[in-house]
Amino acid sequence: MNENQKKHLWWQEGVIYQVYPRSFQDSDGDGVGDLRGITSRLDYLQWLGIKGIWLSPVFSSPMADFGYDISDYRGIHPLFGTLEDFDELLKQVHARNMKLLLDLVPNHTSDEHPWFQESRSSRDNPKRDWYLWYDAKPDNSEPNNWLSVFGGSAWEWDEHTQQYYYHAFHTKQPDLNWRNPEVQQAMLDVMRFWLDKGVDGFRVDVMWHMIKDSQLRDNPPNPDYNPLELPYRQLLPIYSTDQPEVHDIVKMMRELMDQYDERVMIGEIYLPISRLVAYYGVENQGAHLPFNFQLLALPWDAKLLAAAISEYEGALPPEGWPNWVLSNHDKPRITSRVGKAQARVAAMLLLTLRGTPTIYYGDEIGMRDVPIPPEEVQDPQGLNIPDKYLSRDPARTPMQWDNSEYAGFSNVKPWLRLPEYFRRVNVSEQQGSPFSMLSLHRRLIQLRQDEPALHIGEYAPVHADDQMIAYIRQAGEQRFLVLLNLSHRPCYFKAAHEHYKGLIVGSTYPEREGTSISDTITLSGDEGIIVRLE
Ligand code: GLC
Ligand code: MG
Repeated sequence: MNENQKKHLWWQEGVIYQVYPRSFQDSDGDGVGDLRGITSRLDYLQWLGIKGIWLSPVFSSPMADFGYDISDYRGIHPLFGTLEDFDELLKQVHARNMKLLLDLVPNHTSDEHPWFQESRSSRDNPKRDWYLWYDAKPDNSEPNNWLSVFGGSAWEWDEHTQQYYYHAFHTKQPDLNWRNPEVQQAMLDVMRFWLDKGVDGFRVDVMWHMIKDSQLRDNPPNPDYNPLELPYRQLLPIYSTDQPEVHDIVKMMRELMDQYDERVMIGEIYLPISRLVAYYGVENQGAHLPFNFQLLALPWDAKLLAAAISEYEGALPPEGWPNWVLSNHDKPRITSRVGKAQARVAAMLLLTLRGTPTIYYGDEIGMRDVPIPPEEVQDPQGLNIPDKYLSRDPARTPMQWDNSEYAGFSNVKPWLRLPEYFRRVNVSEQQGSPFSMLSLHRRLIQLRQDEPALHIGEYAPVHADDQMIAYIRQAGEQRFLVLLNLSHRPCYFKAAHEHYKGLIVGSTYPEREGTSISDTITLSGDEGIIVRLE
């Protein structure tokens, strides 16, 4: 049976789109995006050709980490709306034949979650063991050297009960003890709650953090530490993350997902490929899609990227489905990283590689990181490490819809500022132009969805050099050659073994579409083309 004949699931065939709810659309005039706002923009996402929408957390939260600190896993934060608003959103998503994914944050809760309130109330509270409480060392120092991702020690002293608790992130995000079966059951119940409502899956936050070394061994120093990075990287987190037992937990979650139809579990995992692919689980009983972050981590270099794609393709387990990501709410946006012209090439790469693409809201119009003045920084990572510019706010600014006063995002001043040039870079401006970044995305998505070779076909590398990457996507007789010039200078491609003939059906310079090619193919700087081969 070839790829073409197998049944593929929606999350394999379709494109996923990440919405950062605070910044997508405000409906109630408080300057913060909300659920009704998202519902009002579903027609746009459908027009764009999106299949699955993943929402960053919308749950009850003190917002110490903008929703990644949850105080009630079953409640919606009033800023975002109500449970009824959520149900309506889900209904409207399904009515458009799209899917809705939620962000599940199982590694830690808010310190204001009743579980932690109980746990910290006394050493003999029944929920004491739900979190990671440890004694100080004899000299009163912390249990070990582990660092918090957001700066400083990962241990916080609790005066009242005279022990430390562990927090991989903010002090207001205590880590749960996933070795405790009650914790496991409580979180599976949370998953069940949303799955029963009809939610189509989860993106699981920091999946590789969920279990820590039971002996609490010190993490070793990182010899490659670069002082521009998070101070957290001074150590190699080999004992605080990616422990073998985490796979039992992932499997447990997967077993629950499998009791429902066609739900998907995506894992947020920042690990080298060899460790990442283990999260597919033995016989693919782990995460359906362990997020593959290579494209947002690697330098934008043709040879490096081609090697990374091959490494990934080669490392995937037999039935493991690939996936690709260019940006998210934690990292710089692709357009800022590689520039406007290369961002178009990047879009073509993302949407023509084998595997599920995830688009970060706003990338489809080429939104850039917006410089946020120091006094306006809100992200705890930025605030806690003020001497380095590590705030994630720049990639979380309001969606630029149109050229009205607040870009169509809100009718009041938004929670994070807009860039001065939003009147030029916005959806309504770009919807009318065939040459816009938005039109490029829409055409690429359409082509991808129309052609089995592009959404489920096989992948074969053809060529890579200092400037360009070439590969083929194929399903049955249908073959597409993708040529991407990752440099600003023109280049040409001459096949070594095969004589390619065909028609250009997609280009970062749309004027070129409809042209036929044969023999040597020349590309402009920053050009990518898709050729339907004869
Ligand atoms: C994940 C989220 C990030 C958050 C962290 C702690 O990495 O993507 O935004 O700060 O987990 O929950
Ligand atoms: Mg609002």
